[in-house]
Amino acid sequence: MIHFKLDSKTIMTQDEMKQAVAQEALNYVIENTIIGVGTGSTANFFIDSLAIMKNKIKGAVASSDATAQRLKLHDIKVFDLNDVKQISVYIDGADESDNDLNLIKGGGGALTREKIVAAVADKFICIADESKLVDIIGKFPLPVEVIPMSANYVSREIVKKIGGTVKLRDFTTDNGNLILDISDLEIVHPKAIETILNSIVGVVTNGLFANSSADVLLLGTPSGVKKIVGKVF
Ligand code: A5P
Repeated sequence: MIHFKLDSKTIMTQDEMKQAVAQEALNYVIENTIIGVGTGSTANFFIDSLAIMKNKIKGAVASSDATAQRLKLHDIKVFDLNDVKQISVYIDGADESDNDLNLIKGGGGALTREKIVAAVADKFICIADESKLVDIIGKFPLPVEVIPMSANYVSREIVKKIGGTVKLRDFTTDNGNLILDISDLEIVHPKAIETILNSIVGVVTNGLFANSSADVLLLGTPSGVKKIVGKVF
């Protein structure tokens, strides 16, 4: 655990906790390999930290156009996933995690590419500040990427199959699709919910990372970075 000097005047902001986990994640970067990089404010801190060791990696696969742009700004080589056979590690944030490292992702709308890059990677290291760890996920609206013409049909099917309140986000994904956000859920069986949502025709993917979750969660807290291990790592 990394310890921060705390006194009555020292309060860590959420951004400082994100920066701390981003920095810690550098320890998981394997030299001379291609890594996967996620999307969002915590991933952005990671990209900025990664710049210091950019010459030690071959490059990165980005989970969004925004991430690709930020990597390029730091002169980090960006690979197309179709040109890559192996990704050593995927590093990304999350919107919520339970203690078993079941995640909700996609607050930034990049869930599909995030899930694809995570699937290719040998390991997934999730980085987040302590506000993201909850007992039961579902308070954060669960994003579902859908083919545009299916949006209303998928909304009705979601309510029929798992309940909740479905809202269309005013947003177009990097893949040209739409996002439905499902609120009012308490997700006690994340694997099952992930599978049910994926079975609805028109769904591209959903933001539950449960059937294949993170291997490690690095959690930023005021007293340091905590490491929570999911599967055997
Ligand atoms: C992007 O689509 C998301 O999955 C992000 O990983 C998630 O929203 C976390 O973002 P922050 O690091 O900005 O909280």
